[in-house]
Amino acid sequence: MQIFNAKTALKDYLRSVKTKKSSIGFVPTMGALHEGHQSLIAQSTQENDITVVSIFVNPTQFNNPEDLEKYPRTLDDDIKKIADINPNGIVFAPTVDDMYEGKTISQSFDFDGLENKMEGKFRPGHFDGVGTIVKLLFEIVEPTKAYFGEKDFQQVQIVKKMVAKNHLPLTIVVCPILRETSGLAMSSRNERLPLQKRKDASLIYKILKEAKEKFKNNSAQKTTQWVKNEFDKNKEFTLEYFEIADEDTLSTCNKKIKNKKYRAFIAVFIDNVRLIDTISLN
Ligand code: PAF
Repeated sequence: MQIFNAKTALKDYLRSVKTKKSSIGFVPTMGALHEGHQSLIAQSTQENDITVVSIFVNPTQFNNPEDLEKYPRTLDDDIKKIADINPNGIVFAPTVDDMYEGKTISQSFDFDGLENKMEGKFRPGHFDGVGTIVKLLFEIVEPTKAYFGEKDFQQVQIVKKMVAKNHLPLTIVVCPILRETSGLAMSSRNERLPLQKRKDASLIYKILKEAKEKFKNNSAQKTTQWVKNEFDKNKEFTLEYFEIADEDTLSTCNKKIKNKKYRAFIAVFIDNVRLIDTISLN
């Protein structure tokens, strides 16, 4: 297990160990690793000669300073979890200064409008921050494959767009959402919920599954209204958005079109913790 805190040291090391034939799998994370991350690391380990896991709480993708401050940081635990899966894994846990070299600001990106919907609309600047750090990490690690979780589906589409627009020579691998036994999508933010609230938060997935059933025989508008009413009845939740959108363009579904793939997206606050989830509707 090798741990690096500086990008030049990691780059030098990778240059010294990789051959023309080596494949590098990369799992970018913000730490507080849960089973969802662990499954990405396991898949990368299986599919590549070298696996790099980055742990970096990226300040430029947080539009809310309190959220950034409260984001769980559990580096020692994270390193143990990675070592259990891949004793030869490489951990990259840089400082903000090392990554941003004194200028902690994001670049601005054009993701053909994908960045203006849902997460982008409610978290202004979020995807510029994600784009900035992911691009920088890709330049440092030069992965063959990079692994992302489907829970952040909009992020996946944005990263794919960045890879396509910049002709980056890597494959984005999307891994399925892992859920707690209650159905709650695994997330580092779940750690911030008291036990009872964490149990209550299983309602999010329950509603998503019911919405999927409703959408079979109802319009997107009717289904959306039903979801809003359900959350209105449950006062411990504040629904930020529920949206049924085209999987590829992320544009809102106003009228169902045959053979198009649709997906529901949701962001909800419970106990001041913001949770997101998504479900395919096909
Ligand atoms: O999904 C995340 O954890 C982050 O957005 C990422 C991709 C590590 C960039 O900071």
